[in-house]
Amino acid sequence: MTSQIIPVEPFDFIAFGGTGDLAERKLLPALYQRQRAGQFSEPTRIIGTSRAKMSHKEYREFARKAISDHVKAAEIDPEQLETFLARLHYVAADAKSGDGFDAIRKQVGESDRIRVFYMAVAPALFGDIAKHLKTNDLICQNCRIVVEKPIGRDLASARTLNDQIGSYFDEHQIFRIDHYLGKETVQNLMALRFANMLYEPLWNSAHIDHVQITVAETVGLEDRIGYYDRAGALRDMAQNHILQLLCLVAMEVPSTMDADAVRDEKLKVLRSLKRINGQEAPKMTVRGQYRAGASAGGAVKGYQEELGSQSSTETFVAIKAEIENWRWAGVPFYLRTGKRLATRVSEIVIEFKHIPHSIFGENAGRILANQLVIRLQPDEGVKQWIMIKDPGPGGMRLRNIALDMSFAQSFQERNPDAYERLVMDVVRGNQTLFMRRDEVEAAWKWIDPIQGAWAENLQEAQGYTAGTWGPSSAIALIERDGRTWHEST
Ligand code: BG6
Repeated sequence: MTSQIIPVEPFDFIAFGGTGDLAERKLLPALYQRQRAGQFSEPTRIIGTSRAKMSHKEYREFARKAISDHVKAAEIDPEQLETFLARLHYVAADAKSGDGFDAIRKQVGESDRIRVFYMAVAPALFGDIAKHLKTNDLICQNCRIVVEKPIGRDLASARTLNDQIGSYFDEHQIFRIDHYLGKETVQNLMALRFANMLYEPLWNSAHIDHVQITVAETVGLEDRIGYYDRAGALRDMAQNHILQLLCLVAMEVPSTMDADAVRDEKLKVLRSLKRINGQEAPKMTVRGQYRAGASAGGAVKGYQEELGSQSSTETFVAIKAEIENWRWAGVPFYLRTGKRLATRVSEIVIEFKHIPHSIFGENAGRILANQLVIRLQPDEGVKQWIMIKDPGPGGMRLRNIALDMSFAQSFQERNPDAYERLVMDVVRGNQTLFMRRDEVEAAWKWIDPIQGAWAENLQEAQGYTAGTWGPSSAIALIERDGRTWHEST
């Protein structure tokens, strides 16, 4: 079974930071894949821009290399690639001074085509670029602006950024990307909850004991020294990806899949999160930083050695979050994310309550609570753990097995990268999978007091050996409550 490709209207895609890492690794490959899938209508153009002086031809060579480096060889069709390269253009422009924006204007020409401005640049430049777009008369009714995180480093700076962009673009034109929302299984979470009768009646504190959300990585700092050391795991992963996942698990059924209907429900969850204050932070949160160890099969340096300087930035965070509303009161959400952990896995575990009473004797074995494990990556799929009778004669013995739905086995199709879906949604003007201003700000309102409590309590990042599951206090965080982290393999 193949999914239906619905072509989008012709568009101009203007990538600021067009020669940068994001354009190279994600945007150009994603656009190529959508063209190959037959989703473009003509004439569609892609204009790369950055400060570097470069000809159109040189930019096409840059894109050719980006695609050959980041798209599987079997998916590179020479004819498709040439068609793709022919739609690329390049204009040098300086985001600070505004030099070159008139050339962008000329390149775009007069047209009422959909126009996407993609900000693959540091957030400090968003405001300047938006201003130059305005003064050069580039902003039109059919325009959208796409911004990447970090959207601020706290509530105040997020507001400033949102104000800057908001002075030139209307909210319905602003697409704040959280690439986790473009992942196939993340959207499947909505299908699982709202396209089945099975789970929703049980999806509350009467039947669910707790929820775990883990986003574990094996990579370390990579080449993002400047950014990461200023951000840390709480800002880099928890404020956005983890809270977005929490929202999708916890939100009420939206009235429709319309952007605002979904985002209104997510916002209510964010606003219901119990604030963690200075006194509570040491027992509700854990900060960690990796030390030298072994990861992904080899010896690796500790964070500070990689960084080349002393730092107290956390590379791991675990939080016991609570949602103060009727559905979730008393159901903890244990969240954890970190770099250089034992394995790369992102998953959500919904643990149901124990049965109230067992009719089986002691010989039947232990009856475990049902778990629903939603695996976001790798090996996307859903497992529903249930108790069954151990097959064979000889009395009633019980066993825990998983009803296993691995998506790779069920669907033969290529699993598109999150950016492919998100970029096409931008062109279509569909904001369902993008964060609204109030969502971003509500997330910071919950994160800021944690950051503040850490500073106030001088809560140090505890060392953990690379290749493990984080500091021992992260294990204690959940075990104190008589629960354990799901063992992800
Ligand atoms: C990014 C973070 O948003 O997400 C990175 O800034 C992190 O630190 C990355 O590595 C993880 O994304 P994915 O899709 O590889 O899970």
